[in-house]
Amino acid sequence: MKILAISGSLRSESYNSRLLLAVAELLPADIEFELFENLKAVPPYDQDDDIEPAPLAVGRLRAAIARADVLLFATPEYNSSIPGQLKNAIDWASRPLATSVLRNKPVAVVGASTGAFGAVWAQAELRKVLAATGARVLDIEVAVGHAAERLDERGRLNDESLREQLREAVHTLLAESNPRDVRVGLAAA
Ligand SMILES: Cc1cc2nc3c(=O)[nH]c(=O)nc-3n(C[C@H](O)[C@H](O)[C@H](O)COP(=O)(O)O)c2cc1C
Repeated sequence: MKILAISGSLRSESYNSRLLLAVAELLPADIEFELFENLKAVPPYDQDDDIEPAPLAVGRLRAAIARADVLLFATPEYNSSIPGQLKNAIDWASRPLATSVLRNKPVAVVGASTGAFGAVWAQAELRKVLAATGARVLDIEVAVGHAAERLDERGRLNDESLREQLREAVHTLLAESNPRDVRVGLAAA
C-alpha cells in the first residue's frame, strides 16, 4: 500500500511539507510513503504540449500518481485559493479526462497556515478541483492553524489532538483504497 503525498508549497521551509512529514511519522512500517519532490519542474499547462510523450516532469508526476494507491495533499492558502503551481500540476494530471491517473483515485486534503484558520478555504477549493477531475475525494479536513508554533523543521507536531485527527484521516484514506483491507495499525504518537 502506497501513499503519495503532494505539498502545494514549493518553499523549502514549508509548513505544509512538514505536515506531510508528520503524517509519515504516524504510518505503520508496511505503508510506503513518498513525498513528491518535483512540483516545481512541472511546466505551465499548454494544451499544445499535452501530447505523447508528455514533458518529462509531467510524465514523472503522472507516473508517481499512477503508482500510488491513495493521494494525500497538503495545501497552503494563497489569496483564498490554492497555489497556482498546484492547480497547474492537477490540470496536467487530469488529462486525458476519461482515463487520467486521477480518475477514481482516493484523495484526501489537509492544510497548514501561519494564520489562525489552517487554510480551510484552500482545502475546500482543492477538494472542488480534485472532484472535477474524477478523483474520489474524501470528505476530510485537517486544519493546522498557527503552524509556526505547532510544526518543527522535522515535521514534529506538538499537538496531540491534531495528530489524532491526522491519524484518523489517513486511516480513512487507506481504508478507501481497498474496503476489504481496512488497516487499524496506525502508529501511536
Ligand atoms: C501569495 C500568498 C498569498 C497568501 N494568501 C493567504 C490567504 O489568503 N489566507 C491565509 O490564511 N494565508 C495566506 N498566505 C499565507 C500562507 O498561507 C502562509 O505563508 C503559509 O505558511 C504558506 O504555506 P507553506 O508554509 O506551506 O509555504 C499567503 C501567502 C502568500 C505567499
